[in-house]
Amino acid sequence: MPGLAPGPSVSEARELFPGASLRPYLNVGQRSLLAAPVRAAVRGFLDRWERGEPDKESLFQALERARVRFARLIGAHPDEVAWIKNVTEGFNLFLSSLEWRPGDEVVHCPDLEHPANLLPWQNLAARRGVRLVPAPADRGRLPSGRVAEAVGPRTRVVTVSTVTFAPGFETDLGPLREACREHGALLLLDAAQSVGTLRADVRRMGCDMLAVATQKGLLATYGAGFLFVRRELAESLVPAALGRFGVVGEGSEEQVPETHLPHGGIAYAAGARRFELGNFNYLGAVAAEAGLEILERFGAEPVDRHNRALAARLAGGFLELGLPVAGGPPGPHLGHIVSVGEVGAGAHDTVEDPRMESLHRRLAGARIEHSVRRGILRFAVHLYNDESDVDRTLEETGRWLRSRPAG
Ligand SMILES: Cc1ncc(COP(=O)(O)O)c(C=O)c1O
Repeated sequence: MPGLAPGPSVSEARELFPGASLRPYLNVGQRSLLAAPVRAAVRGFLDRWERGEPDKESLFQALERARVRFARLIGAHPDEVAWIKNVTEGFNLFLSSLEWRPGDEVVHCPDLEHPANLLPWQNLAARRGVRLVPAPADRGRLPSGRVAEAVGPRTRVVTVSTVTFAPGFETDLGPLREACREHGALLLLDAAQSVGTLRADVRRMGCDMLAVATQKGLLATYGAGFLFVRRELAESLVPAALGRFGVVGEGSEEQVPETHLPHGGIAYAAGARRFELGNFNYLGAVAAEAGLEILERFGAEPVDRHNRALAARLAGGFLELGLPVAGGPPGPHLGHIVSVGEVGAGAHDTVEDPRMESLHRRLAGARIEHSVRRGILRFAVHLYNDESDVDRTLEETGRWLRSRPAG
């Protein structure tokens, strides 16, 4: 945009992460490296607490500043964002607040979903008789076309990951959005693996609900997360669980006109705020505010481009070495996660293919941080990574290949 001063280059972000220069850290799929400013913010909070200083008002202010930053990051209004502890909690709070009707269906792709977006639905099916309609994965890909075809007049919800935890492909949301629109179904997103690392815009994605935790792309800690619920939808829902932060004026301080008390005289808080219960994870909020500030400083779009370029370089390099890169050459499925191995060749965090097990041990021995999910080696990049991380990983992989007996 003319007149706007360009932000700092993403390449400068690396300096904020002391761990980035110690080794290639390719594991944001599990959690981010800790940034010095995030550590300093948490430390400052603890220092103030130690001195008996932080008053509740300043804690609420930090909470709200982080909410505003997150809302801006995903293109939402702050009232459409609730603080949650984790993704699983977000799904449970949301689905238990929907009025389920006999015959309602939930369309999903259980082969690829994390338990966070699976167990809440299985429980709903067991408790309420809601029918789960599974669409099988297609060689690690979420088959958006097939999922869309399964959507019909009885579909209440389509629920998918924006990027799967394994093998980490990006979901093509277009067909799902269209099918939901056509049949009046809700589109729900588990965005644990994408918000912060890849550009996210809830209006463009066309989702009704999105849940994310803060320890991965958002550069912060475990035990804090955000639940986005589209405003009109949130305000049509009676929350299944209610606490003082889910009502106007904390349930006492504000006089609410009678006309605003539709459900048994309770004035639910605006939008998604009605899903908030009692006290918050203020420590997590302080960390999240600092993490979001970093993302904002470098910009969601440049971070997205940086991460995709590094992932494409890594995928291309592995392919040149003859390794089985899940999904093959870089294409629309590739976001910031590159997986190597046969999809499905192992349980949650094990490798059963002896060749991949050997590569995993070699890279772990060289302190190249990555993780193993469902039998594949998962490498996930973020703004603190650079080409040297990718190249070192490829060099070590090349050495491993040369050290192995031929054939
Ligand atoms: C796709 C996906 N969803 C959810 C989670 C986490 O769920 P929760 O925040 O409920 O622990 C993860 C990883 O931790 C994940 O990869």
